[in-house]
Amino acid sequence: MTRPLHAPDNPTVPDQVLDPTAGQNSARSPVFRRSFKKSLPSAVGGEGVYVWDSEGKRYLDFSGSAAVNFIGHGLPEISIAMAEQAKQLEFVHSSQFTTPIAEKYARELIEFAGENFRGGAVYFTCGGSESVETALKLARQYQVEIGQSKRHQVLSRTQSYHGSTLGALAASGNKRRREIYLPMVREFAHVGIPYCYRCHYDCTDGCRNCGQEYAAELERAIATTNSETAGFIFEPVSGATLGAVVPPPGYLETIAEVCRGHGILLIADEVMTGMGRTGRNFAVDHFSNQGGVAPDILIAAKGLSSGYAPLGAVIATKKVVDGIASGAFVHGFTYNAHPVSLAAGRAVLHYLQRQKLVQAADSGNTQTIAARLQQALSTLLDLKIVGDVRGIGLLRGVELVSDKQSKQPFDPQLNFASRVTAAALKRGVLVYPVQGCVDGVAGDHVLIAPPAVIAAEEIDWAVEQLAEAIQEATRETQ
Ligand SMILES: Cc1ncc(COP(=O)(O)O)c(C=O)c1O
Repeated sequence: MTRPLHAPDNPTVPDQVLDPTAGQNSARSPVFRRSFKKSLPSAVGGEGVYVWDSEGKRYLDFSGSAAVNFIGHGLPEISIAMAEQAKQLEFVHSSQFTTPIAEKYARELIEFAGENFRGGAVYFTCGGSESVETALKLARQYQVEIGQSKRHQVLSRTQSYHGSTLGALAASGNKRRREIYLPMVREFAHVGIPYCYRCHYDCTDGCRNCGQEYAAELERAIATTNSETAGFIFEPVSGATLGAVVPPPGYLETIAEVCRGHGILLIADEVMTGMGRTGRNFAVDHFSNQGGVAPDILIAAKGLSSGYAPLGAVIATKKVVDGIASGAFVHGFTYNAHPVSLAAGRAVLHYLQRQKLVQAADSGNTQTIAARLQQALSTLLDLKIVGDVRGIGLLRGVELVSDKQSKQPFDPQLNFASRVTAAALKRGVLVYPVQGCVDGVAGDHVLIAPPAVIAAEEIDWAVEQLAEAIQEATRETQ
């Protein structure tokens, strides 16, 4: 089926998606929304790379919502798989039963995660934050069970995001999302994160040196914890907080070696980067130097179900699972391994494998849609206020600066990334705004993470709209 290009009053919008509640956007909504200040369109339908609102306006989902949708919206085979599972068995508690769907899907996911996870096991949750909590506790219990009961600290990086629950927020470095909750969280060391557009070290040798400097920061932090470190959590490619920053050569491999050398579990948070988004099954698969980056624990969510159901997964290696096998994992949520969510996830996995969507997301291959995205977005660098365009595969960041020469960010009060996003929304394009990439407060970027089924002409059109949106926001703030 060919999809028509954007037209705000697109006549192809089916009547049944027009919603009688249209216009009920006031701050008095009974829904406890993220923001009471913002008026939101009401989404009523989706197909492919498009979402429709109740007034018939069509939006090209250029950010996959929040880097969630990888396979496209509205695929009947996913909802059919979910409905069939619900009809047969909607739910059992994971302390009383396993299910055929859980057993089959876990086996397939372990295979998808690769050789490093052979003999391991998957812990299913309902999303990213739950998975991060699970991984933090798993690291702690593993260390206790192997006789390392002093180890309880999980180190992480500044300018990272691992979720909104208190444990995940403690590990996160995202200042804006953490600040008011800081008195409530137990914090461990955060080490620097390579961000070569604004590097603290010398990047003149193709960033080989700076990667090692950042890795040395981890080594020093470990030394100060007095053998109490249980794990280190990191996003292989920075997600929202820095906007698709790819690490310098050799950095992750050295980090992995440092952790191995100190008996520290390496926890790769691939909530945003996993399940093909960067052009590999998982982003760690890009880094194969010096024996590679072989995490002990891998976390997936978002693309795992592509948004069709709430789903997260913690994939643990054989070493970790064997460590826990002496007892039981002291942890659990009621909705662990929910059969309907697993049916969605399994159908998504089959779909992306059949349609070769991981290959489509590989920007290293010039023939792919991901390479087209990279090339199209790079044209934004012609604009006066686009400082950097970065990323890998179908995960891209566009950093906006008030002065390109000095890389001076906009005044945070201007909320520049949100202005660009609003101007893009008006034009029917969804992007994901984030502030704080410079120092946690200043710095504006938008994240681009479209479904892998996007067409070349849709990319070109969306980039054109984004360029106009950036120019409109520039005019507004001058
Ligand atoms: C890297 C990373 N980890 C964890 C999370 C938290 O996931 P969730 O919002 O599904 O709880 C996110 C969400 O954006 C994320 O990007």
